Amino acid sequence: MNKPIFYKSFRSRKQQESLNSPRALTPRTLKEHKYIIIDIGFGTGESTINLRNMHKDYLVCGLEAYKLGINNLAKKDILTYYGDALEFLEKIENNTIAKIYMLFPDPWQKKKHRKRRLFNEYTFSVINRILVNKGMFHFASDNIGYAIQAKNIIQNACKENNGFSKNRGNRPITKYEKKALKKNKFVFDIIYTKY
Ligand SMILES: C[S@@+](CC[C@H](N)C(=O)[O-])C[C@H]1O[C@@H](n2cnc3c(N)ncnc32)[C@H](O)[C@@H]1O
Repeated sequence: MNKPIFYKSFRSRKQQESLNSPRALTPRTLKEHKYIIIDIGFGTGESTINLRNMHKDYLVCGLEAYKLGINNLAKKDILTYYGDALEFLEKIENNTIAKIYMLFPDPWQKKKHRKRRLFNEYTFSVINRILVNKGMFHFASDNIGYAIQAKNIIQNACKENNGFSKNRGNRPITKYEKKALKKNKFVFDIIYTKY
C-alpha cells in the first residue's frame, strides 16, 4: 500500500509563511479529550465551524495544508494542524477519534496525478485504526471516479459496508460542494461505521 504523495513545495512554503497565532493541534492534545471529530482538508473551514456548532460536546478540530483556512479557524478558536493531514493521522493512537470527515478531497483527475489522491488504501487503514469502535468516517466527492475508488477501498476492507449513502446524512454542506451543485454536479457520500 503506497502513501499518497503530498505537495512537494509545502515544506519550503511553510518556512516562509507566518501564521496568525494558530491554535496548533498536537497528538498530545487529543489525549485530553474523550469525544473528538476531525475535519480533513477543510479548505476555508466553513464545514469545521458548522461541525463545531453541531457537536458542542466534542472537540472539533481540522487538518489542512492551506494557510488561509488555518488562519480562519484560529480566529474561531478551533484547533488545527497545518501540514500533511496523513502525517498527523499516523501519529494518533488506536481507537481515539469518534468521527472523521474527508469532504471533497482534491480529485487529481489526470491518471498520472492519481497517486496524489489523499484517500487510498493506506489512508483508509490509518483512519480505520484510529476510529473508536462504532466511530464514523464520512467521505464525499463530486468526482465519480474518486467516489467509486473510495467505495471499493472501503468495501474491500469491510464487506458489511453498503456503499454509497442515499443522502449526505447530517454533515454540513461545504464551500466546494456549493460550487459543484451550481454546476449541477452529482455528489457521492460514503458513510462508514467501524465495527
Ligand atoms: C477541494 S478542497 C475542499 C475543501 C473543503 N473540504 C470543501 O469541501 O470546501 C481540498 C482541500 O484539501 C486540502 N488538502 C489536500 N491534501 C491535503 C493533505 N495531504 N493534508 C491536508 N490538507 C490537504 C487542500 O489544501 C484543500 O484545501
